[in-house]
Amino acid sequence: MVTSPSLSGSYRPTHGGNRNWAAQLVDCKPEEILDFSASINPLGPPQSVLTELTTHLQNLTAYPDPNYVQLRLALSNVHNLPMDWILPGNGAAELLTWIGRELAQLEATYLVTPAFADYQRSLKAFKAKVIPLPMDLATVPPQPTITASANCGLLLNNPHNPTGALTQREEIVPYLEQFALVVVDEAFMDFLPLDQQQSVLDLVLDCPNLIVLRSLTKFYSLPGLRLGYAIGHPDHLQRWQRWRDPWPVNTLAEVAAIAALKDRPFQQKTWNWLPPSRDALIAGLQKLPGLTPLPSAANFLLVKTEIPSPQLQRDLLKAHQILIRDCLSFPELGENYFRVAVRLPKENDQLLAALAQALTP
Ligand SMILES: Cc1ncc(COP(=O)(O)O)c(C=O)c1O
Repeated sequence: MVTSPSLSGSYRPTHGGNRNWAAQLVDCKPEEILDFSASINPLGPPQSVLTELTTHLQNLTAYPDPNYVQLRLALSNVHNLPMDWILPGNGAAELLTWIGRELAQLEATYLVTPAFADYQRSLKAFKAKVIPLPMDLATVPPQPTITASANCGLLLNNPHNPTGALTQREEIVPYLEQFALVVVDEAFMDFLPLDQQQSVLDLVLDCPNLIVLRSLTKFYSLPGLRLGYAIGHPDHLQRWQRWRDPWPVNTLAEVAAIAALKDRPFQQKTWNWLPPSRDALIAGLQKLPGLTPLPSAANFLLVKTEIPSPQLQRDLLKAHQILIRDCLSFPELGENYFRVAVRLPKENDQLLAALAQALTP
C-alpha cells in the first residue's frame, strides 16, 4: 500500500534535502521550500559549471570514458597526486559502498557517532561489525575517545557531520599505526580556506591503509549531479573498479567537475561568504530562548533545542515553508537537536525570524 507522508507518520527522510517530502506536508511546490536541511553551498552551482554542462549536452550520445582520465588528471593536478591514486564515483555515497565492502573484511569497524547515516547503510550491506565510538557532545568541540585495535578499521568524518567539529590532522596521524584501515571522509573540508584545512590527503602516498573521501556535492552545490572521489592506494581503488559498474560517473558530471575544480573565483567567493555568515547565524541563534548552537568549522550548525526538534520543524514548515533537519535519524541526538545549513545572510535572517516566532509562547 502506498501511503502519503504525514507529519505524524512513520515515513521520514533519513537524509537532509528532501524538499518533496516537505512540500507534500505543507502542500506547496518543492521549489517554494527554503531548505536549511541539506548543507549545500547557497552560492552555487558556479556559472562555469552551468556553461560547461550546456555546451556538452551533445556528449550525452557517447559513453563516458570508463577510466575517467580527464577528470582524474584534473584531480591529480589539484591534489598533486598520481592519477592512479584517485577514483571518481557517483557521489561520495557510491564510494562509501565499496569502502563498506572493504571494511567488512576486517574484524570490526570503529565508527564515531553520531554519524552520517550512509556509513551504516554501506557497513550493514556487507555485514560489517560496527563498534560505535560515541562523541561526548558536552565537550566543545566534541571529540571521541578512540581506542586502537590492530585488525580493525576506523571511519572518521572531518569536519564532522552533524556536529561541525574539526579534528586536527595531527590527531589522526597516530590512528594510521593503530588501525588496519583508516577512512577519512572529508566531504566538507573544502569549506575551510586552504591554510586552515586539516586534510590528511598528503599522507596517502606514505600510508597504504589510508583512504580519503571527497565530494563535489556540498561545496559546488551539485547534489543532483552526483560526483565524489576517493584517494587511496591503487590496490584498493582497482579492486573497487572491478566490483562496480563500468560507468558510475556520467558524461556531464565529468565535464562539470573539471570546470568546478578550476573555478578559483567561486572557491574564493565561498571562503569569503562562509565565516561572517556563520558567525552571524550563531550569534542570532544564541540570542533565541532554549537554543544552543555548537561551534562549527563547516557550512552547517548543530543546535541543541529545549523544544523537540520535530515540533520546531513542523512549525517552521507550516508557517514559513522553511525546512530544518531534525536529528531523529541520528539516534544519539534524537529530538534534542536540529541541524541547519548556513545560507545567504538574508535567508539566515529569515530563519532566525521564523525561529523567534516559533519559540515565542
Ligand atoms: C559526511 C558526508 N559524507 C558523504 C556524503 C555524500 O556525499 P555525495 O553527495 O557526494 O554522495 C554526505 C552527504 O550528505 C555527507 O554528509
